Amino acid sequence: MSLRLVATCALGLEEFLEAELKNLGLSNCSRERGAIAFSGTWDDVLRTNWRLRTANRVLVELAAWDGSSAEALEAGAGRLVESSRVWDGVRAAELFDPRRSFAIRATAARSHIRDTRWVGLKVKDGIVDAQRRRFGRRASIDRQNPDTHLRVWLSRDQATLLLDTSGDPLDRRGYRVATSEAPVRENLAAACILASGWNGQGAVVDPMCGSGTLLAEAAAVALDLAPGRLRKRWAFERLPGFDRAAWESLRQDGIRLPETGLRLIGVDQSPVAVEAASANLRKAGLAGLSSLEVGDGYIFQPPAGPGLLVVNPAYGERLEENRDQWPRLGDLMKQRYAGWRALVLAGGEGLGKHIGLRPSRRIPVRNGPLDARILLFDLY
Ligand SMILES: C[S@@+](CC[C@H](N)C(=O)[O-])C[C@H]1O[C@@H](n2cnc3c(N)ncnc32)[C@H](O)[C@@H]1O
Repeated sequence: MSLRLVATCALGLEEFLEAELKNLGLSNCSRERGAIAFSGTWDDVLRTNWRLRTANRVLVELAAWDGSSAEALEAGAGRLVESSRVWDGVRAAELFDPRRSFAIRATAARSHIRDTRWVGLKVKDGIVDAQRRRFGRRASIDRQNPDTHLRVWLSRDQATLLLDTSGDPLDRRGYRVATSEAPVRENLAAACILASGWNGQGAVVDPMCGSGTLLAEAAAVALDLAPGRLRKRWAFERLPGFDRAAWESLRQDGIRLPETGLRLIGVDQSPVAVEAASANLRKAGLAGLSSLEVGDGYIFQPPAGPGLLVVNPAYGERLEENRDQWPRLGDLMKQRYAGWRALVLAGGEGLGKHIGLRPSRRIPVRNGPLDARILLFDLY
C-alpha cells in the first residue's frame, strides 16, 4: 500500500514544489500552505529527498487522531504504538521498537492546546507508556541524533504524526562552506531559477553575487545535477527496511558534470563575498565554469547575450540606504542586458516597483523571516 507523503517548503514555493513532484511522476498531489501532500512508496521517499530542489523536508504521514485534550493526544499516540499498522512494509512494532531513540518536534495552530512543548510532551508520553506495555521497556529520547525523527502537527484540534525522512533540511546541500552577508536559502534560489523558465542557454550573470547561491542553483538546474549530491546524512538511512542497494544506485543519478558551455559569472563589491562564492562554487564542483571578480555590478560589462541575469540586491534592515538602487538596477537592465531574461529577488515592501520596468511575473515568497518577491523580466 502506498504512503501518504508530505514535502514541506517555504511559503510561496508551493507551485514550484508541486511542479517538481509532478516531473518526478508523483501522483495525487494536493497543495497546502507551505507543503504538498502526495502518494508514494519508500523508493519515492529516497528519490524525492535526492531530487527536490525547492523542498525543506520529506515526511511520511503516520496517523491522525483527535488532539482536543492532553488525554486524547496521549491516547492516540499510544494506540498507534500498540497497533498493527504497516506503512508500505514497515510495521509499527519496528518503527516504535524501544531500541530506537526518537525525538519529537511539535507545532500547534487554531487548537485548544497552544503550547507546542506540551503537545510534544503528551505525544511522547503516549508513545513511551505504550512501549512499556507492548515491549516491557521504553525508548530513549535523543534530540540531537535520534533514530526516529517525529513531528506532530496539531491543527484545529486534529493531531497528525509524521516521520521526518530528511533530517537536516534539504536546503543544506553541502556546498555552502562560506557565507557572506544575507545569503539566500538554496531552495529559494532554486525556485527563482525554476520560475524564470530559463532554457539553460548562454551565460548566467549575477552582478551582486554574494556567496554565489543563485549561480550554483542556476548551474544545478541547467545541468540537471541532483541537489542532494554533496549531502552526507539523511534520516531515512536509519529507518527499518532502508534499502541501501536502491539508495546506492539512485545516488549515481545526477552527480556527473556533463560537457557544457555554461558560464557562471559573478561580481560583488565585497572581496569577502567573492571569496565565499569562489569557495562554494569550488565545493559544488563548478569552479571550472565560473569566473568571479570583485567589482561594481553597475559598471560590469556582461558578455554578449542572450543569457540569464540573476540578482538579489541587499534589502531588509538597511532599506532606507538602498532606496535608490532600484531605479539604478532598472537602468542597468535596460542598458547592458537587452535581449536577456532577468530575475530579481527583491524585498517585499514594494521597492521592486521602483525598478521602472514591468515584470512579466511577480511572485510573493518568504526569504527566511522576510517577505520577498521574485520578479521576472524579458528585456528587449
Ligand atoms: C543580499 S546580498 C546577495 C546574497 C546572495 N544572493 C547569496 O546568496 O549569497 C547582496 C550583495 O550585493 C552586493 N552589492 C551591493 N551593491 C553592489 C554593487 N554596486 N556592486 C556589486 N555588488 C554589490 C553586496 O556586497 C552583497 O554581497
